[in-house]
Amino acid sequence: MKIALGSDHIVTDTKMAVSKFLKEQGYEVIDVGTYDFTRTHYPIFGKKVGELVASGKADQGVVICGTGVGITNSVNKVPGIRAALVRDMTSAIYSKEQLNANVIGFGGRITGEFLICDIIDAFLKAEYQESEENKGWIKKLDHIEKASTNQAEPGFFDEILAKWDRGEYHD
Ligand code: RB5
Repeated sequence: MKIALGSDHIVTDTKMAVSKFLKEQGYEVIDVGTYDFTRTHYPIFGKKVGELVASGKADQGVVICGTGVGITNSVNKVPGIRAALVRDMTSAIYSKEQLNANVIGFGGRITGEFLICDIIDAFLKAEYQESEENKGWIKKLDHIEKASTNQAEPGFFDEILAKWDRGEYHD
């Protein structure tokens, strides 16, 4: 499995540790940078990771910046990307099982490198548990991303809200 990996200069050392970990686990790593501690900008690397994953040149992506907020937002702007910014195992596994997330993001100044590696391991081993319900959610996200014509209409979420009203959702 090919993993696209990117970070900004704040957490290059964390990214290097993650790269080493992934290679030890047998993954092929496509490291898009940054490669040193010279000040740069996280959207550059979020975009690169997103494009590799969305094009199928990488199977999954990992992004890291100081808080994780900037680079995860950046990668999520690439059409076809479903990225989750996480700090815990449960959210990471949920993002893959229910949202079929294809990129996972971290704040390297927030979460320790050992925990990041353990969470990535769990994320990559988890499998999407496809259901009619989560397929519907993912489709809705795709519609938002593609700015479908009815998106501006106030009733865009009516079908989903009606399901809530009918008790079809249980969480
Ligand atoms: C540094 O540019 C810092 O703002 C960045 O790494 C990140 O924390 C943003 O979310």
